[in-house]
Amino acid sequence: MNYDIAIDGPAGAGKSTIAKKIAAKKNMIYVDTGAMYRAMALYMIREKVDLNDPAAIAAKCENVEISIRYEGGVQCVFLNGENVNSLIRTEEVSEAASKTSVVPEVRRKLVSLQQELATLEDVVMDGRDIGTKVLPYARKKIYLTASTAVRARRRFDELMARGESAKLDEIEKEIRDRDHRDMTREESPLMQAEDAILVDTSEMTIDEVVEKILSLIKD
Ligand code: DC
Repeated sequence: MNYDIAIDGPAGAGKSTIAKKIAAKKNMIYVDTGAMYRAMALYMIREKVDLNDPAAIAAKCENVEISIRYEGGVQCVFLNGENVNSLIRTEEVSEAASKTSVVPEVRRKLVSLQQELATLEDVVMDGRDIGTKVLPYARKKIYLTASTAVRARRRFDELMARGESAKLDEIEKEIRDRDHRDMTREESPLMQAEDAILVDTSEMTIDEVVEKILSLIKD
């Protein structure tokens, strides 16, 4: 059986940064499931689907093909054959992904793709429902979190570093709204799996978090 690591938690907890580093150190494949939900959301935006209409989203998602390939060790997400990596990190897509990912048909489609990837390789997979739904038998499960204020500040600093404008209080509100949607949706809400280890990164550096998780994996 494969050795898989599941990392779940809210937006801005540092999941993807940490998961990438763990995967590199352990020679495993990093799977960013949020990128798949983002690609699906981009499709819905392009098709001008009403994001508040689950039935319309469900019908549209039938025709979408999302796949993952690795180029130079980097995960690339393909939407109907087009590499959309550079198009899915905008606030518009973040908001849309939070809405489209509540739709059961979207989740069914992407969860089966994620499970298929995990049968092929040892993976470090991050998302919201990896430990609870996608890989319930993962060898290690981590629930990575941080306070809302810290997550908002990290996002704000990231945008500033990219030369984009942003308001800290608006970012914090968006994070709260997104957490609320992710945690209260009916299908696979974000929650800590019973057997997941909680790591609060509020007061930790990236290297400290990586060290901590590596030590947990060693046990
Ligand atoms: O981790 P992220 O910000 O890239 O995720 C984008 C959106 O997709 C977020 O609102 C939550 C959703 N998502 C999900 O519902 N399940 C996952 N396994 C990963 C992401």
